[in-house]
Amino acid sequence: MCGILAYLGKEPALPILLEGLRRLEYRGYDSSGLAVMEDAEVLCRRAPGKIRVLEDRLADAEWQGSAGIAHTRWATHGKPSEINAHPHSDCRERIFVVHNGIIENHQALKEQLQQRGHQFKSETDTEVLAHLIEEYHQEGLLQAVKEALLAVQGTYGIAVLSADHPGKVVIAAKGSPLILGIGEKGIWAASDVCALVSHTREVVYLHDDDLVLVDSEGYQISNLHSQDISRPKRTIDWEIRDAEKQGYPHFMLKEIHEQPQAVRNAMRGRLLQAEGIPKLGGLTDVWKQMVDMERLFIVSCGTSYYAGLLGRYIIEESTDIAVEVDLASEFRYRKLNFKEGTAVLAISQSGETADTLVAIREARRKGALILGLVNVVGSSIARETDAGVYNHAGPEVGVASTKSFISQLTILYLIALSLARHQTPSLSERQSFLRELISIPDKIQQILDGAAHIQSIARRFSQYRNFLYLGRKFNYPIALEGALKLKEISYLHSEAYAAGEMKHGPIALIDEDFPSVCLAPRDSSYEKMLSNIQEIKARNGPVVAVGTEGDRELPKICDEVIEVPATHEILLPLLTTVPMQLLAYYIAEERGCEIDQPRNLAKSVTVE
Ligand code: G6P
Repeated sequence: MCGILAYLGKEPALPILLEGLRRLEYRGYDSSGLAVMEDAEVLCRRAPGKIRVLEDRLADAEWQGSAGIAHTRWATHGKPSEINAHPHSDCRERIFVVHNGIIENHQALKEQLQQRGHQFKSETDTEVLAHLIEEYHQEGLLQAVKEALLAVQGTYGIAVLSADHPGKVVIAAKGSPLILGIGEKGIWAASDVCALVSHTREVVYLHDDDLVLVDSEGYQISNLHSQDISRPKRTIDWEIRDAEKQGYPHFMLKEIHEQPQAVRNAMRGRLLQAEGIPKLGGLTDVWKQMVDMERLFIVSCGTSYYAGLLGRYIIEESTDIAVEVDLASEFRYRKLNFKEGTAVLAISQSGETADTLVAIREARRKGALILGLVNVVGSSIARETDAGVYNHAGPEVGVASTKSFISQLTILYLIALSLARHQTPSLSERQSFLRELISIPDKIQQILDGAAHIQSIARRFSQYRNFLYLGRKFNYPIALEGALKLKEISYLHSEAYAAGEMKHGPIALIDEDFPSVCLAPRDSSYEKMLSNIQEIKARNGPVVAVGTEGDRELPKICDEVIEVPATHEILLPLLTTVPMQLLAYYIAEERGCEIDQPRNLAKSVTVE
């Protein structure tokens, strides 16, 4: 949600900033802008809409300056427009700021600043930062930024450039991700490593309240109280090609096709096959507490929430732990008193979702053990948990989450099996389960190889306006995820129900214009799903079913059937998810939608 970037080094900043912005565009795409220091003057250009509009506006720019800042926006305060695009500047247009986050007390600060004569140009909360820094600019750039930040409440990742202080960029972070990249040709700061990785793999993850001065000497981290801070350098273990489309028309399709590998990566080095158990190194330190755990709350948002819902079924299936799943944004409203033996598991691809962060802070305050299941290494949620597991799914750029979901499910199976070995399953049952899990990537590949059939179904169904998704038991969360995928990228109305609930309301919607997508593989709820499909057909509703390979019943009653290979019932979601994603993808493609950057959405939502 908003991407920021800064560079100071030996090369012209402009092409570096534009390339980085293109990689950050998934974080927000309603407007963009950048500023470059050019001969003791700061040149700035901004544009509404996508980054290509900004690029067009910069086509004639021959800027050679080697220090600059840039921003791609997802609007919070103020409409998407050129005037509200970042960078924002002070009254003298000497200080330029890009910001990701929210300044909560901006209204009060703005009024005070206006009383002191400051002229505001935009409707954004960010602009107060530029004017506050202006108030202190004679104290030096670092000190001025520090004074300004001491006055604000809220969250920020900022980068500041000032014509009064050439050769310097100041960076600060609180509640918004910022990563420094240290390379031979300069120093970068960005909201996501994908904007740095084509230049360097040496990075420093900034923590809350870190303030960084970057100049020709290098970088120095301190805090708002002027204490020097030391943060370790780390090496990123993926390459720029991981964050590129590699010939696919969209990141989403590429990421769907990366799922066999995402499952393998989630399991790599984590299976002790002889003992039939997973070994999750990140949980070792808290394992004793986890074994004694009586109650587990899973908190997450969006797709990660649906992974959590499946997590409840699979952990409860194999252990006696009571699992509750909460939308992170609602968790804080529950008056919960945590007893000993309570843990909270936050699931988040980005590790930055504000609602999830707030939920775990609340749980920590109440004394729960805090666990994380996170994809982005070094992210805020990863840092704020007591222990956790990384997905190692690689960068996910498409706004609609796909491979991260499959990876989250895989790790939830590993967690459930680790906890289960203290309960009932025998060694041979555990080994058989692991063998089946290991075969899942090939089975996903088999579904991907049949994508053309799903594409033809999408063509047939893309003109309907409403869809109902139905599933039971392990496939109920997958129905929810399927409906979310469709609405996110095709803007069609879709809603999901536990199939048993259909008769309690949604059945009233069914007619020949209202298709249903029914998850009906051969599992313990298969017969009941068949009855539900019959009920839909009796009311002339079109049905697309997902069934087990070789099923003879479904083709007799459904309009279309998508087959998935057979597997253990509990593992079916790893397979049934894939047709859900492909169906949504191809329907959105048929409808000409902007698949990787759907309107109004952002990949990482850092506001509540
Ligand atoms: C946003 C994204 C969703 C994602 C959700 C949770 O809404 O558009 O795709 O599922 O955030 O994100 P997280 O990074 O916490 O998994």
